[in-house]
Amino acid sequence: MVKRNENIAKLQAGYLFPEIGRRKKALLEKEPDAKLISLGIGNTTEALSTHIVEGLHKEVTRLGTSEGYTGYDDDAQAQAFLDKLKTRISNNWYNGIISPEEIIVSDGSKPDCGRLFFLFGNNVSVAVQDPAYPVYVDGSVMIGATGNYNSDTEEFDGIEYMRCTEENDFFPDLSKVKRTDLIYICSPNNPTGAVATKKELKELVDFARKNRSIIIFDAAYSEFIREKGLPRSIFEIEGARECAIEVSSLSKPAGFTGVRLGWTIVPKELKFDDGQSVGKDWQRVVGTLFNGSSNIAQWGAIAALSETGLSEIKETVNYYMENAKIIKNGLDGLGIKTFGGVNSPYIWAAFPGKKSWDVFEDILTKAHVVTTPGAGFGKAGEGFVRFSAFGKTSDIKEAVKRLQENLK
Ligand SMILES: Cc1ncc(COP(=O)(O)O)c(C=O)c1O
Repeated sequence: MVKRNENIAKLQAGYLFPEIGRRKKALLEKEPDAKLISLGIGNTTEALSTHIVEGLHKEVTRLGTSEGYTGYDDDAQAQAFLDKLKTRISNNWYNGIISPEEIIVSDGSKPDCGRLFFLFGNNVSVAVQDPAYPVYVDGSVMIGATGNYNSDTEEFDGIEYMRCTEENDFFPDLSKVKRTDLIYICSPNNPTGAVATKKELKELVDFARKNRSIIIFDAAYSEFIREKGLPRSIFEIEGARECAIEVSSLSKPAGFTGVRLGWTIVPKELKFDDGQSVGKDWQRVVGTLFNGSSNIAQWGAIAALSETGLSEIKETVNYYMENAKIIKNGLDGLGIKTFGGVNSPYIWAAFPGKKSWDVFEDILTKAHVVTTPGAGFGKAGEGFVRFSAFGKTSDIKEAVKRLQENLK
């Protein structure tokens, strides 16, 4: 018999979403006619926009011709298309602050997070925001970069958890953070909806440079930023090119959750302690373990990153952000304190003194609305639930009406 990977064995049972599913099922067994509305998930619901669909169609047609067919991207024509996409990401997404050679196109930011664990291996220390998108912790555990789960603290030993609370505007107080090799930061944040300011990110960059750490910046929600002056990329911050990697994706803004296309930026200046280029090792990891994103998704992305595509993306984002406003106003009207929802599709609602699973259950049973309990994202999420703005506006309005009628 083969021994189980001891690092995977350290993981706690996938608790959050299975438990939400179990509780939904239990409610439906009691009340089979209940029409549940989910404001709990981060999955997109709106159809791909016209120009993107045209881009996808064109590529499918091209792949069906013998002149146009391409396989792996070592083919000259495929390489030229990939270069076109990188140029669009560089010019139209990053306004030229990143050069195309620093962009590695992928099938999404979560798979890139997975490959980044390979890049750094298990001999690194890791800091994560608490609460956080679960991939950063679980991936670090799987690669063996942490200790065991500690049932007293209910956290993994060896991880530096950076508490993000109302008191620190949901951005870590770096004076309390121990030095680690890697620092995971997500802005706009899932789940708190908070966006780091330029000042906060400058402090983070200075902190990372002083400590010779690398920041892994997850910008998957950058397109949801509405207010002017807030940074959409860590590379808007002076000094970030020496200490940061950024992952990003078309999943949420362009509805590519199923199409799959993202990218990672590794700047040329980023080096390991022996002076070797991080970007070169990243190319090696990606070249060894991954054969690129699909040709079809790339052409969808080329269309998405054109002028027309970008204006369609804005419309989709506006649609979700209108939903966010409806949820936020509805909760405000009930006297519930909320955060986020202005520059992010997530609304972080505070229920001080209550357990987030109890609040989840209360909302589920009284209003038949599904949320996500904050405690599922980390200890600092206790007392909060997350509302997601991904959904049909008609469902969102109905959900808010039910909240108003049943939670008074
Ligand atoms: C913070 C964050 N990063 C990354 C992802 C995954 O994105 P992708 O679909 O590009 O893998 C998600 C998805 O929910 C997310 O919330």
